[in-house]
Amino acid sequence: LRILVLAGGLSYERDVSLRSGRRVLDALRSAGLTAELHDADVSLLPALQADPPDAAFIALHGATGEDGSLRGVLDLCGIPYVGADARTARLAWDKPSAKSMLREAGIPTPDWVALPHDRFSELGAVAVLDRIVDRLGLPLMVKPAQGGSGLGAAVVRDAADLPAAMVGCFAYDSTALVEQYVTGTNVAVSIVDRGAGPEPLPIVEIVPRDGVYDYAARYTAGLTTWHVPARLSPAVADRITQVAVAAYKALGLRDLSRIDVIVGADGEPMVLGCNVSPGMTETSLLPLAVQAAGVDLGELLSSLVGQAVS
Ligand code: DAL
Repeated sequence: LRILVLAGGLSYERDVSLRSGRRVLDALRSAGLTAELHDADVSLLPALQADPPDAAFIALHGATGEDGSLRGVLDLCGIPYVGADARTARLAWDKPSAKSMLREAGIPTPDWVALPHDRFSELGAVAVLDRIVDRLGLPLMVKPAQGGSGLGAAVVRDAADLPAAMVGCFAYDSTALVEQYVTGTNVAVSIVDRGAGPEPLPIVEIVPRDGVYDYAARYTAGLTTWHVPARLSPAVADRITQVAVAAYKALGLRDLSRIDVIVGADGEPMVLGCNVSPGMTETSLLPLAVQAAGVDLGELLSSLVGQAVS
């Protein structure tokens, strides 16, 4: 089998994706597969047509890699790939759309408002932001509706800081997601499906040194400590796992994903979001969970590739 690992691409998470791609490439090769890395730039389409691989592994984060459009191209070319299908990716990658699906499925997620930039300018920033604070209270979390790795995201504790947070967010996307900020323990549940249904891996607890899990804390060695399995009671851990698997199913995810969860002081988990194409870098959470489960990353990824081509 010849596997093309797609990485890089044109998104704000390009560098992260190149790191993920190299890790995936090494893992697949260590499992004995023939794998090559290809940048998902303009050279990709002629390459897919000229020499179609047997399967693709999408190690792309952000934009076309996660929003379903590249998956649609692979469908068109008849190239199987690991991970969510195009439609699922499009719906799950958009945070307001994913949160609506979670709410409909009865899965707890912090209350939110999605605010397109046009509406923000049309109604006047002050009026809109006042209305949001009235509805959601403080503190708030502001994030690009579509994006990842903490880019353009900010915690707002004081209403006076909201306009600056919105401006920072609109630099990354034309729609902002403003949600209630829940104080608690940040955890991530990676879920893989090796053919026997969704399999939750050990929960990773995330403790950023400076209290904020931003881009630097995610990708700079030493800025975040992880506890795997998370330091939680078995009852709370079970509840988190149950909620994460329910979220994975409600969103229609496939093969591998990571569900990010916050556990409030009452021990109740709330889903913050999902990752259609979870990070695979040296500091990413899914590979840590795989290791903690005693599973070899190369074996896991090659079995997912095997499923994709079967
Ligand atoms: N969006 C990045 C890659 C992650 O959350 O893993």
